[in-house]
Amino acid sequence: MAQDRTGADGGAFVPPMAKIPDRQLSILEVLRAARRNLLEIIPPVAFTQPMVSGRTVARWHMVMDPGALKRVLLENEENYPKSRVTIRMVKPAIGDSLFVAEGSHWRWQRRAAAPVFAHRHMVALSHFMTAAAERAAERIAARAPGVVDLYPEMIAATFDVICDVALSGSKVIDKGAVSGTVTRYFETIGRVSLFDIMNLPSWIPRPAQLFHRRGITDMQAMLDRVIAERMEGDRREDLLGLMLEAADPETGRSMTPEELRDNLLAFLVAGHETTALALAWSLYLVAHDARVQAKLVEESRAACGGGAATAEHLPELSYHRQVIEEAMRLYPPVGMISRTARKGDTLCGREVRKGDTVILPVYALHRHEMWWDTPNEFRPEAFDAEKTKARDRYLYLPFGAGPRICIGMGFAVTEATLILATLVNRLSFTASGQHPKPVMTLTLRPEGGVPLKVAARGPVATPDEAALAGE
Ligand code: HEM
Repeated sequence: MAQDRTGADGGAFVPPMAKIPDRQLSILEVLRAARRNLLEIIPPVAFTQPMVSGRTVARWHMVMDPGALKRVLLENEENYPKSRVTIRMVKPAIGDSLFVAEGSHWRWQRRAAAPVFAHRHMVALSHFMTAAAERAAERIAARAPGVVDLYPEMIAATFDVICDVALSGSKVIDKGAVSGTVTRYFETIGRVSLFDIMNLPSWIPRPAQLFHRRGITDMQAMLDRVIAERMEGDRREDLLGLMLEAADPETGRSMTPEELRDNLLAFLVAGHETTALALAWSLYLVAHDARVQAKLVEESRAACGGGAATAEHLPELSYHRQVIEEAMRLYPPVGMISRTARKGDTLCGREVRKGDTVILPVYALHRHEMWWDTPNEFRPEAFDAEKTKARDRYLYLPFGAGPRICIGMGFAVTEATLILATLVNRLSFTASGQHPKPVMTLTLRPEGGVPLKVAARGPVATPDEAALAGE
C-alpha cells in the first residue's frame, strides 16, 4: 500500500510496487503471469542477487550486475541481438526499421538517423512540444477543479507532440485513428503470446496479429501518402523533412520510401507511449509529495514566470529533470529488455549457452537492494548532479545503453521536462485516494489510470508552498 509523505510519518512517499511472487512459480503460472503482468514473473531474488537463472520451456538468465549488463549491452553486444519475442511483437508494425534491424542493416540506418536526433534539431523542434504542452494544460484546466485521469491526458499530449514533430501540418493524418491503433496494438500484440514464449515459428499467425493487421495497414497507407507528398516537393522542417535528407555518412545511402515509413512508424510507436508513461508516473508521484511539488513550482516559476516552458528554460529546470529520472527509476516505461545469446558466453561467472534468453529486468535493477539505499521510496534528490556522477552508468537503464541506446532519449527528456514544467506552473495536483497498479506488457502502465485532484494554481506560490519548497 502506498503512503503519503505528507502523512503522519512525514517520511518519503512509498508508491505502489508490483506483486512479486513469494515462491517458485510453475511453468503454467509463469506463462499466465507473462500475459497478464510481466513484473510478476520477476522472482524476489532478482531484487537482492546480481544474477538469476532458470528454465521455462527454454533457458533464461536475469542480469542485475552492472559489469554483466555492460558486457551484454556494450562490450559483447554483437553476441546479444534483440530477443525473438521482442522482434515478433513489433516487426508486424514497424518492419525492419532501426528498432528491429540487426547487423549492417541496423548500423547504416543508425548512422543515417543519428544526426536527425542531434541536440540542435531537438531544440529547433521544441516549439511543437511547448505548443502541445500549452494545449494539454488548457484541456486539463477546463476540467479543474475536479478529479482528472492524467494517464490518457499524457498519452494525448505526447501523441500530439510526436505527430507534429514528425509530420507537421499533415492533413492526411487522423491523430485519433492513429493513436487508437497504436494503443490497441500495445494492448493485444504487446501481450506476450504463449506461442512466442514457446518459440513457435513466426509463420504461424498469432490471433492478436490477425485481428490488428487492418489497423496497421491503414496506418502504413496514411504515412505512405504523406511521404509521397513530401517527395513531390512539399518541404517542411520536421522529423520527416530531416529523415528525407538523412544519408549514411559512410556510404551515402538514403532511405527508400518504405524504409522511411517503417522508421517513422517506429518513432510513433516507440516515442509516444513511453514518454506519456514517464509523465503520468511523475505526476502521480509529485501529487503525493507536497515538498517535491512545491520545489517544482518554485523552479518553473523562477525559470518561466507564468508562461509555458520553452527550450531556453531547460538549463534552469534541473529539478524537473531529477523528478522525471526518479519516476523512471521507480516505474521504467520499458521495464524489461531482452536479448537472445548468439553464442556461448560467461556472465557473473555463470555459463550462458547459445540460444539462451538474457533478460535485463530494468524494474528490478532500479529497485535492487545492493545498489539503492532506499529502493522503494520516491526521492528525486538521488539524481542530483553529484549522486548521478558517482553512480555506475549501468545501474540506471531507462533508455538502455551501448550502441542500441534509445535514439529518442534527448527528444523524450526535453519533451517531458517542458510538459511537466508547463503543467505544474499552472495547475496543482493532489492525491485522489486511488493508486494505480504497475502492470507491464510491452511497457509499464498504471492500471486503473492516474486519477488526481487537479486545481488551477494562483499567480504566486502560497506561503505553505513557499515554506515547503525552502524546507
Ligand atoms: C521516456 C521515453 C522513452 C523511453 C523510456 C525509451 C526507452 C527505450 C529503450 C529502453 C530502448 C532500447 C531497447 C533495447 O535495447 O532493446 C529504446 C530504443 C529506441 N527508442 Fe526509445 N524510449 C523513449 C522515447 C523514445 C522516443 C521519443 C523515440 C523517437 C522519437 C524513441 C525511439 C527509439 C528507437 C528508434 C529505438 C531503437 C534504437 C536502436 O535500436 O538503434 N524512443 N528506447
